[in-house]
Formats: sequence, C-alpha cells, structure tokens
Amino acid sequence: MILTQFLARMSTVVLVFVLVLGASSGKPRSNRVAPKNLSETGLYSDIVTKTISPANLMFSPQYPLWSDGARKKRWIYIPPKQSIDAKRVDDWVFPVGTKLWKEFSFGKKVETRYLEKVGKRVWIFAAYAWNENESDAVQVPEAGSRNHVEISPGIRHDIPGIIDCKACHEGQGRDVVLGFNALQLSPERDPNAPHAEQVTPEMINLKNLVDQKLLAHLPKRFTVDPPVIAANSARERTALGYLSANCGGCHNSTDPLSTLGMYLKRSVDISPAAAKLELETVIGHKSKYQIPELDDDQSYRILPGDPSKSAIIYRIATRNPYRQMPPIGTKIVDTEALDLITKWIQEDLVNKNGEQQLTHK
Ligand code: HEC
Ligand code: HEC
Repeated sequence: MILTQFLARMSTVVLVFVLVLGASSGKPRSNRVAPKNLSETGLYSDIVTKTISPANLMFSPQYPLWSDGARKKRWIYIPPKQSIDAKRVDDWVFPVGTKLWKEFSFGKKVETRYLEKVGKRVWIFAAYAWNENESDAVQVPEAGSRNHVEISPGIRHDIPGIIDCKACHEGQGRDVVLGFNALQLSPERDPNAPHAEQVTPEMINLKNLVDQKLLAHLPKRFTVDPPVIAANSARERTALGYLSANCGGCHNSTDPLSTLGMYLKRSVDISPAAAKLELETVIGHKSKYQIPELDDDQSYRILPGDPSKSAIIYRIATRNPYRQMPPIGTKIVDTEALDLITKWIQEDLVNKNGEQQLTHK
C-alpha cells in the first residue's frame, strides 16, 4: 500500500518533470554541441595540408559584412540528397545537418566561425581561434575572446561571444544564415560593392545551386532574372546593398527591432510600391536617435542632400561604443563605405533643382 502510494507520487513527479521540460523549449531540442577543435567539424579533409573536404562548397556574398578589414573565406555543407527550401525567396530554410564556416584572417588565420543546424530552427554557434602555427583552431569560451590579436596599432580584434553572434544572426522564426541567400549569391554581382572578394570558379552562386538541384521551390523568375537591388543609380544600388547586408540583419520589418520602424534590409521579393514604403522609413525620415551636435528634432535617419543631419552617417562614422553602428563586431570605421554613402546622400538623393526628394516627419 505504502509502496503503491510512493510509486503513484513518484510517477506524478516524473510526469510534472516531463511536462515542464517539454513545455520549456517549445521546439525540438538537441544535445549536440560544437566539437572542441575546428578539425572535428568536417571543414577539412586534411587540416595539415588545409585541404577543404570536397563535400563543402565555397561561396562569397556580393555585399560582405565589414569586419575591420579581415580577409574572409566561407563554406557551406548541405547534407547528401537534401536541398534548401527557397520558396520564401528572402528567407531560405536549410535542411537539418547544414553547416557553415567563415574564416577570418588579418595577415594570418585568426578565427573561424561555425554554424550548424541541429533541429528545426535550432542552430549551434561556435568560434574557433587558430593557434600560433595554424595547425588547428580551438573553440573559444562562450563569452568569446576579447582583445584577441592586434590588427592595427593600438586596436585589437575581439572574437565575439555567442550572445553577440545571436544579436546579429537570430531573428523572428527564420533561419540564422545571413550571407547565403538569393540576393547575396546573385550571379549578377554589384561590381562596386565595398570589400567584395574576387569571384573564383569554385565559388557557388544562385545558378549553380539551381543546376545542382540544391535549391527547392525557387520561383522560376529568379533563375531567368537574377536578383538585383532596384535603384536610380549604380551608386544607389551599392549603398542600399551595403546597408542591407551590414545593417539589415537587425534593421528590418520582421525581426524584433522592427518596432524601431527603420527598414534597411532589401527584399528581392516585394513589389516596387512596398519597397518604396520601406525606403521611406529611412530616407527623409526623422531619427529617434538625436545626433549629439544638433538641436533637438534636427536629426534624420537620412536627410537627402545633408549627410551632417543624417544619423546613419553619424553612427557609421563613430566608434564610440555607445553610438557606433553596427553596435558590435567592429572597432575601425569603414571609410570606403562611409564615403560611398555620404556621396549617395549628398549627390544622388537631391534632384536637379537641388530640392530634397522624399521628406516626411
Ligand atoms: C556584427 C554582426 C555579426 C556578428 C557579431 C557575427 N556575425 Fe556572423 N555574419 C554576419 C553577417 C552580416 C554575415 C553575412 C555577410 C558576410 O559573411 O560577410 C555573417 C556570416 C556568417 C557566417 C557564414 C554564413 C552566413 O550566415 O552567411 C558564419 C558561419 C557566421 N557568420 C558565424 C558567426 C558566429 C559563430 C558568430 C559569433 C562568434 C558571428 N557570426 C558573429 C554578421 C555577424
Ligand atoms: C546587432 C544589431 C544592429 C545592427 C547590425 C545595426 N544596428 Fe542600428 N540599431 C540597433 C539598435 C538596438 C538600435 C536602437 C538603439 C540605439 O539607437 O542605439 C539601433 C539604432 C540605429 C539608428 C537610430 C534610428 C532611430 O531612428 O533612432 C540608426 C541611424 C542605426 N541604428 C543605423 C545603423 C546602421 C547604418 C547600421 C549598419 C552600418 C546598423 N544600424 C546596424 C542595432 C543594430
């Protein structure tokens, strides 16, 4: 009798435990953690000779993220017989088992970042720091490695912590990948994109993915007409592409920061009218953030013709940690991009009469 009561109580305890566990995650959990060494992630078939496993495909987004001048290389692994679901053109869904790597060099290899999809919408993040003789790289602690290596006199590179990876990569109900999508892999690359890598034959693009049947459900028109950012000039195309890649991961209409109402991410699958509305949240739009040197209410996100009243310029041009944009991942101003966006605002956004286009409060 006592034993039965005990067992009955035990099973209630177990049941509650199981319910709590089940309810706490809401999504399938995985116990998989990133391996300790980069050599165990499957990137290399031989790390001694630095031979990349033939299962991994190299790629290069047309608008790279500025990372203080780091040279980068990137690879993707898609599990055999699987494909990426490209039905939502701006929001690809990757098969479980997908892995991506990004290697950072400042003269020598410094770190390799790693993403692996281990369940529906569940990804693991890791960063590996290369050792002195570049024989392997070891996973850095979750907090990252601050001031890891000097990259310019007095400036040292931080290997970001997982919380920082997630601040840039995670969104609302979408996969975490940022640089492997229709726009970034378009065969019609922007020839003027700042810091873009030279394309080599081994680098895979949208067309190759379709030909190799690695993309499912991509609307046909994108194979006929590769995605290009709609713009009034070549410089505008480049400026919008830079802002989309470097800022649009946070500043878009679907992720948590959408409440700020400033959409810098360029979608390749919306109507021109919808694209115009998104641009109007930026161009000629008052900024909530006030540029310190200006009177209150004088700051715009972008004021056509006037970079000095454009908060986007102010925040790209500063590395004050409380003001800079992006807020993480960089310690050196991207002067090439600053120059590009300044000229776009100053020269292209003003019509022939010198009047500003598109202003509203
Ligand atoms: C400042 C924002 C930012 C931070 C911080 C950041 N990333 Fe990224 N990451 C990006 C962007 C934007 C891209 C795509 C553009 C590119 O590769 O140049 C990218 C690309 C990647 C890629 C290639 C696959 C892809 O999504 O395109 C990997 C792998 C990656 N990041 C891993 C990490 C990991 C791991 C961390 C943390 C240790 C991290 N990233 C931190 C913004 C960031
Ligand atoms: C990791 C996420 C992240 C990235 C990437 C990022 N931002 Fe931001 N940004 C924020 C957050 C959070 C705020 C709101 C708080 C603040 O103003 O500092 C913000 C605010 C802003 C504002 C103020 C807008 C207003 O009306 O108040 C501007 C301008 C801005 N960002 C520009 C940029 C630009 C330009 C880039 C790319 C070069 C960029 N941001 C990249 C997170 C990000």
